[in-house]
Amino acid sequence: MTESILIDPAILYWGTPVVLVSTVNEDGTANLAPMSSAWWLGRGCMLGFTESAKSVKNLRRTKECVLNLPSSSLAGAVDRIARTTGNNPVPPDKEWLGFEYVADKFGRAGLTPVPSTIVAAPRAAECDVQMEAAVEIIHAYGATNPGIRTKIAAIELRIVAVHVNPDIVHKDDSRRVDPDLWRPLIMSFREFYGLGDRVTSSRLAEISEERWRPPPPA
Ligand SMILES: Cc1cc2nc3c(=O)[nH]c(=O)nc-3n(C[C@H](O)[C@H](O)[C@H](O)COP(=O)(O)O)c2cc1C
Repeated sequence: MTESILIDPAILYWGTPVVLVSTVNEDGTANLAPMSSAWWLGRGCMLGFTESAKSVKNLRRTKECVLNLPSSSLAGAVDRIARTTGNNPVPPDKEWLGFEYVADKFGRAGLTPVPSTIVAAPRAAECDVQMEAAVEIIHAYGATNPGIRTKIAAIELRIVAVHVNPDIVHKDDSRRVDPDLWRPLIMSFREFYGLGDRVTSSRLAEISEERWRPPPPA
């Protein structure tokens, strides 16, 4: 076994799926923001967003969004809006990184906004997964951590509707996504990746997925 060495990386971005968050601006137009500090548990999700993002303003005001998950084939669309913000003027921390203001990020990405069923924010039609979501609580992340440079909001969301491309649905159970068919776009240390093949069989996957289903609302 190789002995580990101590290093001091500027970022710890080990690889997570990309999410395109659509929200509604003050004037009723849509914003679309790539991000990937997101994790999923039950019918919920936690997003880590810099406070300087337009999306955070929109989420605080409207309390809803759509979480669009692009497959790895959409890396080009994501990259076209990678250094853009819906905030005008561009906040100083984003200006320092060379971001520009773009009013129509759906247009810049080349993605198509389509209406949602519950929330006002549109879905991105080309994304294989589109989840409508409502804000539960917004937490301050990193407020006591000197290793965090900017203010970050940890945004807890409740998923209220899940739309998927039928091509990724399991052939034996139409309620389930088939992980062999879902090809998420991954961001690792600022580079785009796809997934490889399954590495081994999974003991957790032997348990029925239904055991994780939350009880229906009372
Ligand atoms: C693939 C990718 C992943 C990103 N991940 C995050 C993230 O997790 N959190 C974040 O605050 N910004 C992230 N960014 C930068 C955001 O896109 C940036 O904050 C942008 O300002 C958000 O758009 P908005 O200001 O219109 O809301 C990411 C950008 C890209 C291209």
